[in-house]
Formats: sequence, structure tokens, C-alpha cells
Amino acid sequence: MGEIVSERESRLVLQNLLADDREKELGKDVVTGLTGEPKSLPPKYFYDEKGSLLFEQICELPEYYPTRTETLILKAFGGAIVEKTGPCEIVELGSGSSTKTRILLDAYQAAGYPLRYLPVDVSDTMLSETANKLLKEYPNLSIHALASTYEPALSALPVKQLPARLIAFIGSTIGNLSSQECDQFLDLISQTLNIGDYFLLGLDLQKERTALKAAYNDSQGVTAAFNLNMLTHLNQQFEGNFDVSKFSHVAFYNEKEQQIEMHLESMASQQVSLKDLGLAVEFEKGDRILSEISRKFNRLQMEKTLAKHRLQVIAPYTDEKEWFGLLLCQRTP
Ligand SMILES: C[S@@+](CC[C@H](N)C(=O)[O-])C[C@H]1O[C@@H](n2cnc3c(N)ncnc32)[C@H](O)[C@@H]1O
Repeated sequence: MGEIVSERESRLVLQNLLADDREKELGKDVVTGLTGEPKSLPPKYFYDEKGSLLFEQICELPEYYPTRTETLILKAFGGAIVEKTGPCEIVELGSGSSTKTRILLDAYQAAGYPLRYLPVDVSDTMLSETANKLLKEYPNLSIHALASTYEPALSALPVKQLPARLIAFIGSTIGNLSSQECDQFLDLISQTLNIGDYFLLGLDLQKERTALKAAYNDSQGVTAAFNLNMLTHLNQQFEGNFDVSKFSHVAFYNEKEQQIEMHLESMASQQVSLKDLGLAVEFEKGDRILSEISRKFNRLQMEKTLAKHRLQVIAPYTDEKEWFGLLLCQRTP
């Protein structure tokens, strides 16, 4: 268990589990990824302070439809979600700036319910800044924030204080998990929830390719900067010497896997080292590192997958074009 690092006021607990985690992992996932074939890196390394800010800019881009669409769905159905769950505390995995979550908090507030929020994010700066902003915006809100990756946070959740709990995993962050990782993740969600508790899942749905490709190759180059920032983050975290100017952003739709893939492509033959990991990696010109997959889903297929994990969809919400889905599930016996 990590130590409670600050308690600014009675409504905020900020718990940091990252120190324990880093001790345990020591960049093992980076070594495995960069020595594997093909080379890859886990998407969590996008999110240092700068990466989190770049992601916020991506959400504002005209080409990036997911955030806008999911926001519309939440605005249209926030009240309906609250009616189904009744008073409920929200655990959010990968909470970022909690921008869309405010729509849910507003809906619980409008229903006259107590507000309790447990955001979880690997980006500790973004997490604590957001928690402090939220406390000012919602005088009746209590927060227990966990700076952590998903799994340790789920096993360290404090005792439930409201009649029900809703785990929110929105933004289609589930699309960053491979099908096998997704199964393990849903198992964990199912084990964490009590029977009758809720899971709210945001899903980017399959759609025409032009919109998909444009969303990950924006004209202002923000997605490219976000992708390349992962190398700067690794340089800082593991004393590395990636020359970011010698890599380029590549994003395309993989038809077979039904996923957008983002890669970092080496523009030269080069060797890169990460001193703290005792790692040296050779790149030929054109070699790629897979930095993110973003799977695009079929809603009914996902409903079946959820059911296998004892998560029954009780209310599926979508937009007019059916570009994005928000599935409210309940944990069944
Ligand atoms: C795609 S963003 C989504 C943010 C927000 N939920 C939204 O819908 O806009 C993913 C968020 O998850 C966090 N994140 C990524 N991998 C994580 C991990 N393994 N554990 C915890 N947080 C993670 C990132 O820091 C980031 O804030």
C-alpha cells in the first residue's frame, strides 16, 4: 500500500501508489517492448505532464470526433444514468482532466445525491491539479484520488461510502488494450465490483475510414507531437538519448485487426540507449515502434464479451450516427 502523501482538506485524500509500482517494475515493460519483435511501448508512457496537456489539445481538435461525441451522449443521457444507478460513488480509471466526468457529477448533484469521486490516473500532476479544481467547483464533493496504474488502484480502493459504486472507463481507453488484455481487465472489473454495482464503458465504434484516419493524423500535428513526446518522457524517466528529430509519427487503420495503430518510425539507422535500464537498441531506417493501438468496436459483440465477465449491459447509449457507444452495465451474480 502506498502512503497517503497529502490531505489538503477534509474532502481530499490523495494516495500515490506509483512509487511502489516503479520500484517493482523498474521499466521492465520498456525493456520487454523495445527488445521484442515488433518493437512496442505501453501507451501509459504518453502521459507525463506534457503528454497529458497534449492529450487535452487533441480532445479539442476538429478532426478528433471521439471526445465531442461522447460528451454529447453524456449530456443527453447523464440524467438517465443517474436514474438507473441512484446514489452512487464514481471510480474513474484514466480520469485525466475529468472534463466529461463533470457532466455526470452535475447529474448526480441535480438529483440531490451526495457526490463522491475516486479518480485513478498514472499522470500524478494532472490528477492532483484536477482534484483541486473539482473541490473548488463542487463544494459538496469528496475525493479519494489514486495516482496509480489501473490494477493496483482497484485492489487499493477504500471502503464504499455510498449505496452503490460505478466504475467509469470512458474515452474508449479500452481500445488501447489488446483483446487478451481486455479480457484480463474485464475480469478485474468484475472481481472488484459487488453484485448490483455498475460499470460505465465508453467505446469508439466502427465507422467509415476517412473519419478514423483524420482523427489520428490531424492537420495541426498535435497527435504527432503527442506520439513523439513518449520518447522525451522515456529520456527523462530512464536517462535515455532518443533523438526525437530522428523519429516520425505514423498512424493508419489496420483493417484486419480493426484498429488504428500509431507508430514511431526511425528516419535513420541509429542506436539509442536508456542508461537506467542498461539498454541499447539498434534501429534501421524505417524500423517502427508500435506506441498505441486504438481498437474500434462492434457494440453487440462487446455486449457479449461483457456478459461473459458477468457485466450485463442494462442501458446502451449512442449518438445519431452511432459513432460512439456508452454502455451502462451492472454486475450480475
Ligand atoms: C485516452 S486518455 C482518456 C482521458 C479521459 N478519461 C477522457 O475520456 O478524456 C487516457 C488517460 O488514462 C491515463 N492512463 C493511461 N494508461 C494508464 C494506466 N495504465 N493506468 C492508469 N492511468 C492510465 C492517462 O494518463 C490519461 O489521462
